[in-house]
Amino acid sequence: NFHAVIPAGGVGTRLWPLSRAAAPKFLHDLTGSGSTLLRATYDRLHPLAGDRMMVVTGVAHREAVCHQLPEVPDSELVLESEPKDSAAAIGLAAAILHRRDPSIIMGSFAADHVISPDQTFQAAVREAILTAAPAEDSEGKIVTIGIEPSHPSTGFGYIRIGEALSVAGAPHAHSVVEFVEKPDQATAEKYLKSGDFSWNAGMFVAPVALMLKHLEKNEPELYAGLNEIAEAWDTDQRGEVTARIWPTLPKIAIDYAVAEPAAAAGDVAVIPAAFRWDDVGDFAAIGRLNSANEVDDVTVLGEGARVFTEDASGVVVTDTKRVIALIGIDDVVIVDTPDALLVTTTAHAQRVKAAVDALKANG
Ligand code: GDD
Ligand code: MG
Repeated sequence: NFHAVIPAGGVGTRLWPLSRAAAPKFLHDLTGSGSTLLRATYDRLHPLAGDRMMVVTGVAHREAVCHQLPEVPDSELVLESEPKDSAAAIGLAAAILHRRDPSIIMGSFAADHVISPDQTFQAAVREAILTAAPAEDSEGKIVTIGIEPSHPSTGFGYIRIGEALSVAGAPHAHSVVEFVEKPDQATAEKYLKSGDFSWNAGMFVAPVALMLKHLEKNEPELYAGLNEIAEAWDTDQRGEVTARIWPTLPKIAIDYAVAEPAAAAGDVAVIPAAFRWDDVGDFAAIGRLNSANEVDDVTVLGEGARVFTEDASGVVVTDTKRVIALIGIDDVVIVDTPDALLVTTTAHAQRVKAAVDALKANG
């Protein structure tokens, strides 16, 4: 009774000008595999969930999402009139599924991550489903996937791992002592040194009833609104009720609304990931993920890209028909789109977000 939910929101500002409001990160093929991140996410989940798959995205992306995922029916495509962050997106899916069948176990998986190999990911999610399942004396667990941290990033949630759980079929399951979303630099450094923490991969597998219980406790206003929409979802009132309530919902991330308080209540578990995981945070990540698409030492992405290189290294992403020549230049990042051109280096790729914010502020 497992249902997969794919929240597909966010703009991916650090991948500007490729990723932007009109065409965010998940709609692009960032690995040269021929699949967009969204399509790859769906295909990776299909062996686990079959057609029991729900996608939550902005109304502006309806056409692109339907084009990339033609098999998702209208009833399983949740369109947001405006972004309300991940608690609303994932919470609405939980509320809709709960009304259909309160015993469903849901799994929420970001649409914009790169994961390999699929089979190892699927094995971890199978363990997560077994660990999440309610038993006679418990309401089950909210199960996260833990990634071995490589540096003191402040962009991730941190999971303090507790004792091993004994769950049949889930030999890697552990309890979670504490969940801390995006700690500051000093705290992240302390956590990394302690060796007690994993990064949160941004995946949550949980009984819908338990997910909603924590939402109700911590965000009662959000919970009430989502329930009202869910009640109307499979009726002809869906459009009217959603249009009225959605804009009033509080904007908060699921990590604060559910994961942190649920962990404090002892309701969170973790399965450590044995798969490769990358959230493709910047253009340097695209270089790391695409070693197979290298021309000389330059990673090239883009349909029909025409790139000439001589003694050069770095990343080129092109969305134009222009010929690009790189000569005697190292670690360069060039992103060519019809209306904006980015030139930086892989070492400075993280600074794109701040630059875009400044560009916006200056009109
Ligand atoms: N539909 C919809 N609407 N989806 C949304 C919205 C929204 O308004 N806001 C966020 N999402 C989706 C994103 O598309 C992504 O799939 C997921 O919710 C997480 O949101 P992000 O905005 O990408 O969060 P983050 O990257 O800062 O942090 C999360 O992911 C990290 C791993 O990449 C947290 O879960 C961290 O704890 C985690 O480490
Ligand atoms: Mg993210």
